[in-house]
Amino acid sequence: MAGYGRRFVSVLSLLLLLVGVNASPYVRPSARRSLLWPFSSKTGTPDPQQVHVSLAGPKHMKVSWMTSSFTAPSTVEWGTTSGKYDSTAQGENTSYTYVFYKSGLFHHVVVGPLDASTSYYYRCGGAGPEFSFRTPPPAGPQVPITFAVAGDLGQTGWTKSTLDHIQKTDFDVLLFAGDLSYADYMQPLWDSFGQLVQPLASARPWMVTQGNHDVEEIPLLIKGFRSYNARWPMSFDGSPLTSNSFYSFEVAGVHVLMLGSYTDYAENSPQYSWLQADLVKVNRTRTPWLIAMLHAPWYNSNSAHQGDGDAMMSAMEPLLQKAQVDIVFAGHVHAYERTTRVFLKIADPCGIIHITIGAGGNREGLARSFKNPQPSWSLFREASFGNGELRVVNSTHANWSWHRNDNDEQVMADELWMTSLSSSSQDCSFVN
Ligand SMILES: *[C@@H]1O[C@H](CO)[C@@H](O)[C@H](O)[C@H]1NC(C)=O
Ligand SMILES: *[C@@H]1O[C@H](CO)[C@@H](O)[C@H](O)[C@H]1NC(C)=O
Ligand SMILES: *[C@@H]1O[C@H](CO)[C@@H](O)[C@H](O)[C@H]1NC(C)=O
Ligand SMILES: *[C@@H]1O[C@H](CO)[C@@H](O)[C@H](O)[C@H]1NC(C)=O
Ligand SMILES: [Fe+2]
Repeated sequence: MAGYGRRFVSVLSLLLLLVGVNASPYVRPSARRSLLWPFSSKTGTPDPQQVHVSLAGPKHMKVSWMTSSFTAPSTVEWGTTSGKYDSTAQGENTSYTYVFYKSGLFHHVVVGPLDASTSYYYRCGGAGPEFSFRTPPPAGPQVPITFAVAGDLGQTGWTKSTLDHIQKTDFDVLLFAGDLSYADYMQPLWDSFGQLVQPLASARPWMVTQGNHDVEEIPLLIKGFRSYNARWPMSFDGSPLTSNSFYSFEVAGVHVLMLGSYTDYAENSPQYSWLQADLVKVNRTRTPWLIAMLHAPWYNSNSAHQGDGDAMMSAMEPLLQKAQVDIVFAGHVHAYERTTRVFLKIADPCGIIHITIGAGGNREGLARSFKNPQPSWSLFREASFGNGELRVVNSTHANWSWHRNDNDEQVMADELWMTSLSSSSQDCSFVN
């Protein structure tokens, strides 16, 4: 049934897109124009294009890029000194078609073993410009780490401001809550998005999960996530994924669950069984922090997208609560909202903090209207674009801050010290 619903929605949104109707019920400011970049797969941007990196195990990173050339090799050379590459790795390539669009060649190469907290210089395909990334800090319950947190980026002037602000912070890993390019079936816009984010995404790992705009399914013709999967495959440990729709990874003292809001999550689904099995493997002595990320928020007091996350919430909230998840990040609603610790809509000191951060700056504009009265579980909400920063200081403390884009200035609007549910100062009984 859920499949039919989604199909109906994608057919509907395709139709609406074709006739140029915006289906959203809330009032938005006039949208900033998309930054239409003059490059696509075929228009002469030099190779390699759209370079980005992601975590691929405790000592490895995956380097991904696209070439217009179909004979370009999938090799990465790297080293710790600029211009001196003492290691080389080979990877895989893939490409796809989408109605009349034919993509370039995507290359995905796992590099390593790498040292923690180290800058590496690298080159893609044996030629071209040099890039550089920094690996995250080593594993360890007391190891500090900083995450940049964003969602619903798109590619507008607002997006540019958000990316500029993120670039100014010294983060280790970017967590992305879905809705990347807002290409919405127009495939060259995935290429321009790849170019737009390259300066950041080639320098620090981006760990992403899917949003509704990333599905792009055309019933009977094209399955969901065709472009997303070819361009942004996430894999940890290099182990083959049963799906690119849900996965987890560990970094420093944090276990991160990346969940799929548009992939079956019912109790008999592969995603649900995977989540159960993954939670069993979590060891809060090794990773005192447990964080989840998904697209459609479960706790949302904005008028936009009311109820979109309800079905997934009924299926999975008890599992996450039992596992004592500290924070659930979501996107989708183009505003910021933070809850108190909550379970089943009731404040609970052993519950989860939900943070909606679908405010990257896409062309649809802000979700300005919040429901009144503000529910007691909702502590802070505002309709602004911006980005978040989670600075995990040690096994017990993390500083969360929300930075809004105020006329392109970055302003810290919400800030909070959080204590992990695994710390002894919290009186929550543990399952593991
Ligand atoms: C792309 O991958 C295929 C195997 O999947 C391989 O045969 C082909 O040579 C690769 N192309 C390039 C340019 O490396
Ligand atoms: C959890 O991790 C700690 C620290 O790495 C380790 O000493 C302990 O044996 C682990 N517990 C289990 C049940 O694996
Ligand atoms: C963690 O950091 C907080 C804030 O700086 C500090 O108060 C606390 O004592 C630290 N805890 C541990 C276990 O190091
Ligand atoms: C929390 O982080 C923000 C942003 O980095 C910073 O301005 C603020 O001072 C921090 N709070 C504390 C108490 O350190
Ligand atoms: Fe969305």
